[in-house]
Amino acid sequence: MSAAVVGGQYGSEGKGLIVAHIARDYDTHVRVGAANAGHTFWTRNDKIEGQYEGASVDAAWEKHVMQQLPCAAYANPDAVLCIGPGAIISEEILDRELREWSAWRREHGFGVDYVWIDEKAHVVREEHKLVETGSGLQERIGSTSATAREGIGACQAARVMREAGCILAGDALDVDERVFLGKIAYKLDGRNVMLEGTQGASLSLTTGDFPFVTSRNTTIAGLCADAGYPASKVDRRIVVLRTYPIRVAGNSGGFYDDSREISWDVVGIDPENERTTVTKKIRRVATFSMDQLVDAVILNDPTELALTFCDYLEPRIHGESGKWDALKSYRSVEMMVNAIEDAAHVPVTMLGTGPHSVIELERK
Ligand code: GTP
Ligand code: MG
Repeated sequence: MSAAVVGGQYGSEGKGLIVAHIARDYDTHVRVGAANAGHTFWTRNDKIEGQYEGASVDAAWEKHVMQQLPCAAYANPDAVLCIGPGAIISEEILDRELREWSAWRREHGFGVDYVWIDEKAHVVREEHKLVETGSGLQERIGSTSATAREGIGACQAARVMREAGCILAGDALDVDERVFLGKIAYKLDGRNVMLEGTQGASLSLTTGDFPFVTSRNTTIAGLCADAGYPASKVDRRIVVLRTYPIRVAGNSGGFYDDSREISWDVVGIDPENERTTVTKKIRRVATFSMDQLVDAVILNDPTELALTFCDYLEPRIHGESGKWDALKSYRSVEMMVNAIEDAAHVPVTMLGTGPHSVIELERK
């Protein structure tokens, strides 16, 4: 049994929350993409909980933002972790994540572990950062502002051009005790694999809102290609959607015609909650688009949907978790779930109700 989790809108749908929630069902996890995507989730910090009786709830939770490693690094410490051949690696960020992860494992009593990185993954070089900074890309397409400084698009372009300056992880990375380089396809074969997608369907290079897109395909097909994993083996396909889709700040493109850009005041949310971790800017927000949902469904053929930020629609649901068979006391969420299922013909199986809470919907 293998799963893929992708975004259905413009990214930041909370893929991290959903991946972390089901991470223990899969023994092998693959991340693709690059450091311009950050997957955020929280784990319970048992140590703090045990140490200080009566510690506040927040003190019992540990936040993780993953830019290169799969979320399973913390959400399933027994899993095999892989970075796929289509990934682009920023060495400093990978190195920091590996160091933090090793320290965390030691602290929590887990043994030494390794990350398998495909030898064909690419590594960003200084010149890629310079190419993008001087290209005017940042000015033309605001959504690439984080990427442009990081050289990810230029590294991808160098890969396509098969340039000399384009280096493979197998040649570039200093292999230390925490990394194995090789062909991860062999590592994935016959395992229960979780493929962790980045960004969202509308940012996909070929089928998204061009030119306000990212430098790779972000659908399940693109994710499989970047992971080097056969799409026919993915039997659980999850598209994650926010109740209010967002785009990054600045000149980042429009929203769908059947939705409306609104302010965070209208949503009733403090905009500080929507400042991005990588760019530190406030995200733009709009009402939910049924047309965008239909596009994401047509492109991904999901077997199920996850709806996050239900607490933005109905604050009373914040922090609720567990297995539910009905949503009757949360009328607005129930109506939205019904409308989504009617348009998509796909069941909504998980609801995000806060940064570290998920309701599993098991309706009869
Ligand atoms: P990208 O690949 O970068 O698009 O990542 P992502 O889809 O994993 O989303 P990301 O973690 O960047 O952003 C989501 C943010 O919202 C994080 O800070 C999460 O902790 C938070 N979040 C996720 N789901 C929910 C939810 O249901 N409610 C609330 N209030 N916050 C959520
Ligand atoms: Mg993110």
